[in-house]
Amino acid sequence: MKPIFLVANWKSNKTIKEVLEWFSEIKSITADNNKKIIICPPFTTLETTKRLIDENSLPFEIGSQNISAFNQGAYTGEINSTQVKDFANYVIIGHSERRENQKEDDLLLSEKTDRAKEGGLKVIYCIQGAGTVIPENVDVIAYEPVFAIGTGTPDTPENAEKVAKELKKRFQKPFLYGGSVTAENIRSYTSKEEIDGALIGGASLDPHEFGKIINLA
Ligand code: PGA
Repeated sequence: MKPIFLVANWKSNKTIKEVLEWFSEIKSITADNNKKIIICPPFTTLETTKRLIDENSLPFEIGSQNISAFNQGAYTGEINSTQVKDFANYVIIGHSERRENQKEDDLLLSEKTDRAKEGGLKVIYCIQGAGTVIPENVDVIAYEPVFAIGTGTPDTPENAEKVAKELKKRFQKPFLYGGSVTAENIRSYTSKEEIDGALIGGASLDPHEFGKIINLA
């Protein structure tokens, strides 16, 4: 069985209380060994998330949703990769919401990727299409067409598979699809030969829906 990545991107959602509630609903979940489930909470709940995963022996890993382009030092408001490494072993870089809202460009994203790798984090790198610039040293590629994010209009599994095939000629790395993934459609992506999992936003906020996704993927 191929490994299947299920990456929950909580974005700017959930207080500590809401994280406690989410885990109280999902704490008896089990998952097949081939599922790599990575929860990406906001920075403020990384510690709580890690504690709850450890206490409940859940088969989950942790990622952050962003990282500083700088190392430790005088960078007010930034959180660097060595700090994140206390809690997480993955980081999402290049999400289209950050490209759009924070004006993050290819150069900055490649610097973030380098800092993440130096700090020992694995990089889940988001691309918007086959033409997006991808740093060589990323670990996982997540194809997230902008029209599909949070809209309820996902790309077709056939098209996602086409993008996967094209990219895998250049990068022999796990390829994820993201954009309006739900329990209803997850299997249509993960059953494709070249698709190795999904990046899940809205549907991961609800523990029942996310639990279903884990079971069905
Ligand atoms: P969505 O978000 O599942 O809510 O469409 C996916 C993402 O932006 O990572």
